Amino acid sequence: MSDKGEERIVRSELRWGAVTIAAVSLIMLMVIFAGVAMHINPPSNIERVNPQDLHLSAEFTEANLGTKVEADGQITARIVATQFAFVPRCVVLPADTPVTLRLSSPDVIHGILVSGTNVNTMVVPGYVAQVHTVFRKTGDLLMPCHEFCGLGHSEMLATVRVVPRDQFAPGADGRVACADQ
Ligand code: CUA
Repeated sequence: MSDKGEERIVRSELRWGAVTIAAVSLIMLMVIFAGVAMHINPPSNIERVNPQDLHLSAEFTEANLGTKVEADGQITARIVATQFAFVPRCVVLPADTPVTLRLSSPDVIHGILVSGTNVNTMVVPGYVAQVHTVFRKTGDLLMPCHEFCGLGHSEMLATVRVVPRDQFAPGADGRVACADQ
């Protein structure tokens, strides 16, 4: 091959190299922007729990599910995602307040998102899925299961009832439940 031809090939390869570096840099910048500015991050909480005795474990017993204001003021909603329902079906949380959602599954992989917010996580049996968030709007937000989990998947949904902060009234035990559910 002539020197000219080889030069052309080298230039073409360098051009494609530059295009690749530019594309990878752009994607990295978008990932960093989404994480830093938009708070879109992969779930990073790694906490194991035995799915077989989830209902007997300290945290996810039926009496401990739903919204609770902890002794330190932290507001946590605990939900079990199971084929094919969420327990409880509705949780009350205050707006404009840092809250934590904690979910686990005793059976198969489920997933949740809270419509209109950036809350989105998988719920994998054996692990606690944890999301910290602040709800900015009040109202009943739909929380469907977004991971196909069996024949009843499409029926699997819950409500996150976001109330104004002054209407968030936990009882003496620190618990709040949806009145109509
Ligand atoms: Cu649970 Cu789909």
